[in-house]
Amino acid sequence: MGGRWVEARSGKRFSTRNPATGELLAEVAEGDAADIDLAVAAARRAFDGQWSNWKPADRQRLLLKLADLVEADIEQLAMLDTLDMGAPISRTRASKQRAVGMLRYYAGQAVSIHGETIENSLSGEIFSYTLKEPLGVVGAIIPWNSPLGATLWKIGPALATGCTVVLKPAEEAPLTPLRIAELCAAAGVPEGVVNVVPGYGETAGAALAAHNGVDKLAFTGSHLTGQKIVRASAGNLKRLSLELGGKSPDIVFADADLDAAVPGAAMAVFANSGQVCSAGTRLFVERRIYSEFTQRVAEFSRSLKLGNGLDPETQVGPLVSSEQLDRVTAYLRLGAQEGARVVSGGARATEGALANGYFVPPTVFVDVQDEMTIAREEIFGPVLSAIPFDDVDEVIARGNRTEFGLGSGVWTRDVTKAHRLARALRAGS
Ligand code: NAI
Ligand code: MG
Repeated sequence: MGGRWVEARSGKRFSTRNPATGELLAEVAEGDAADIDLAVAAARRAFDGQWSNWKPADRQRLLLKLADLVEADIEQLAMLDTLDMGAPISRTRASKQRAVGMLRYYAGQAVSIHGETIENSLSGEIFSYTLKEPLGVVGAIIPWNSPLGATLWKIGPALATGCTVVLKPAEEAPLTPLRIAELCAAAGVPEGVVNVVPGYGETAGAALAAHNGVDKLAFTGSHLTGQKIVRASAGNLKRLSLELGGKSPDIVFADADLDAAVPGAAMAVFANSGQVCSAGTRLFVERRIYSEFTQRVAEFSRSLKLGNGLDPETQVGPLVSSEQLDRVTAYLRLGAQEGARVVSGGARATEGALANGYFVPPTVFVDVQDEMTIAREEIFGPVLSAIPFDDVDEVIARGNRTEFGLGSGVWTRDVTKAHRLARALRAGS
């Protein structure tokens, strides 16, 4: 905070654990409302100070420098993500292109921002124009599922536009964001421009969302917390960006390339152990291939290597925490109670070394009905619900029957049908 490592005002710390083993990784300063106050004040001072004189080209150079440092440090950043939230190292290492590319993209944005001149019908020399200005202090709250990507996704645009940031990482995975704060300092980000305050959502997060000194809040996480953020932000009517969850339909037609669709549909759910906002968790399969297709998906799922993310062979790691394990296994029990049938996975994995971690094997439910809880709620675990359908209009209507609308997928070789569904499915992606 303010360019320095500091303890929490309260002196408190919290533990962060390796979800593959349950082992303690580190004790981290537990920020709360008092620390958020200090961080917002530091961000405000920085915004009003020298930083406001930085030219677009200066901010571009800074972002390019930060991109270089992230690139050089990627092995450590990937390791921190894997240790702190469990994702396979093959996945976190592969995030390099995206992470570094994102920062270089924002570096380009820093020099591309422009307003407009607008024709008007007033007399004389009066003309109208728009002038883009930085908003001020941005609060950022991120979830655990991709700490590196989520951190850069918040910090990058703020630096590009000349804002300052107070970022609250998820309590489950604070280590990578703290390392990024160090890299920001090394890149020459002025003190107070980027501040990272680890702590719990109900304390530090809530204080940031409600803070009158924060001009904008950028949140990624669950829709329930998103609703709390909207309410908390009302005090000063701060601007909001909300990136929330989903129960996305993934639709497979009988005419699809099934050799591609089987692993595609499976990994649309099992990548990152299902802890992905746009996971294709409602798998609609055309009835005449339903039985064959779901069998193949189940077979593929059983072939995936579940294990400690540090093993380069691991394809599916643990869930992030014991709370998440409880949440996901509760849905597994509920699915069975409501009459869905498990054809792969279905219960916590406890063999050998897995017993100490929070492991759930890739799980495929068949005979799922639209109204079952597992077909309606975001589970955020490796749980796929396979549902048969008969025709295009029917699957569009059922695909759209959800309170979410984040992602969607279509597997077909019929281009006309593909475009029709892309338009008809009410989803952002
Ligand atoms: P969450 O949405 O509560 O947590 C995300 C972030 O918000 C964390 O940094 C947390 O500390 C913060 N937060 C929590 N309560 C807050 C509050 N009152 N004010 C301000 N910030 C607050 O998600 P959580 O509890 O970690 O996971 C619960 C469920 O949410 C998951 O099972 C999953 O279904 C869903 N989720 C979805 C995500 C997505 O990207 N779609 C990401 C994370 C969770
Ligand atoms: Mg939480």
